[in-house]
Amino acid sequence: MKDIVFNLIDQEKIRQRDGLELIPSENYVSKDVLKAMGSVLTNKYSEGYPSFEGITDWDESEIAQKILPNYRYYGGQTNVDRIERLAISRACKLFHADHANVQPHSGANANEAVYYAWCNPGDKILAMSLPAGGHLTHGSPVTRSAKIYKFIGYGVTDEGDIDYEELEKKALEEQPKIILIGYSAFMKIPDFDRVARIAAKIPDCLLMADMAHVAGLIAGGVHENPLDHGFHVMTTTTHKTLRGPRGGLILSKGKVSSPLKRPDHTLENIPTLIDRSVFPGTQGGPLEHVIAAKAVAFGEALQPEFKEYAKNIVKNAKTLAEELIKSDFVLQGDGTENHLILVNVKESYGIDGKMYEKALDHAGLTLNANALPTDDSAAFRPSGVRLGTPAITSRGMGEPEMKILASWMKKIAKICKEAGTEDNLPKYSAELETIKKEVKELALKFPVPSI
Ligand SMILES: Cc1ncc(COP(=O)(O)O)c(C=O)c1O
Repeated sequence: MKDIVFNLIDQEKIRQRDGLELIPSENYVSKDVLKAMGSVLTNKYSEGYPSFEGITDWDESEIAQKILPNYRYYGGQTNVDRIERLAISRACKLFHADHANVQPHSGANANEAVYYAWCNPGDKILAMSLPAGGHLTHGSPVTRSAKIYKFIGYGVTDEGDIDYEELEKKALEEQPKIILIGYSAFMKIPDFDRVARIAAKIPDCLLMADMAHVAGLIAGGVHENPLDHGFHVMTTTTHKTLRGPRGGLILSKGKVSSPLKRPDHTLENIPTLIDRSVFPGTQGGPLEHVIAAKAVAFGEALQPEFKEYAKNIVKNAKTLAEELIKSDFVLQGDGTENHLILVNVKESYGIDGKMYEKALDHAGLTLNANALPTDDSAAFRPSGVRLGTPAITSRGMGEPEMKILASWMKKIAKICKEAGTEDNLPKYSAELETIKKEVKELALKFPVPSI
């Protein structure tokens, strides 16, 4: 008998097929990525790392064929080693890194491993504050890291850019061990050179970028790469714009050596300090089926088509932002330079983000309510919503569809305004159902690549 879990997976397939995904941190993987993830590699334990000893260049056939000694704690690693080496070498190629650790189970694990690699308890980390657009893992008091390290927050200006003056002032005063540039709701391209100049004034300061959101744009060449601007480390998730499996990745510049011996605590040794921090520091056995899927996704991102995809993500986001402004929406930072849009729905239509999120959900449009940098509303009733274009661009949508999307968003905002409260939304279910039908009609014209 078919397990009921599979019925639910089938229902989720239908939800993804018939609706439009506007959550900026979500995407649709390819059939090949999905195949690698659902493979027998999930049966394998491979604590430790493969080695690159004796690899003379980064030629893929050499990497995929050579059987080398490794730093693993279990036998039977012949295939796993070669797959993980492919993932590492492709990641380094994509992001111009000297080293890649492909084992972090998620973006949160990747960040935590970097903090643990470089900091001692009580050390200071300067990062974008959560209300300004930073991520929970950048020092929110509810996290484990915030109990171990001392996080200091910097904010954004009224124009929505990083407040570099505040960042510099706090960096010089506090002498942090890490300056972190990273975010979940920020629409500009950071001035990495300016931050590198600030960090150079502080002894032993690690420059870290958490590019979880924009990694696919960096890989596609439409966004600056922090590793090209003096940053030592870049963390990312692999499942957002990068369009790989759910997981984390740490890229670094420096000297790569055996993870078996603890290296001196220097910035040059950061690749090896990170390897030791991921395993055995903060994780156990790697998920080799996910690492194989990461290798496949990195291979896809190295193809010329991915450059086109990255370009289209940004083009669509800019078009959608312009259309939303024309539809009387107020946008944080007046628009976007990446894939992300933050809409102030309270100022635009006098409604709250949560109610708007729910109404859009009824119509098959998925996004998330999000606090704004200046938000004084309760955390569960923020004034904004956050949306983005990676997933709809993977479906092949373009300018005409962005216009349609903006018109639906306007209609639904007006419904919310008229309803006044969430409890009144059921009265408008007929209108929302009509939009849902139109959404489905459009969605079916642009199939999800893996369904
Ligand atoms: C900037 C940033 N860092 C880290 C993470 C955490 O990633 P994960 O959910 O894979 O732990 C996210 C997730 O949204 C993120 O946006």
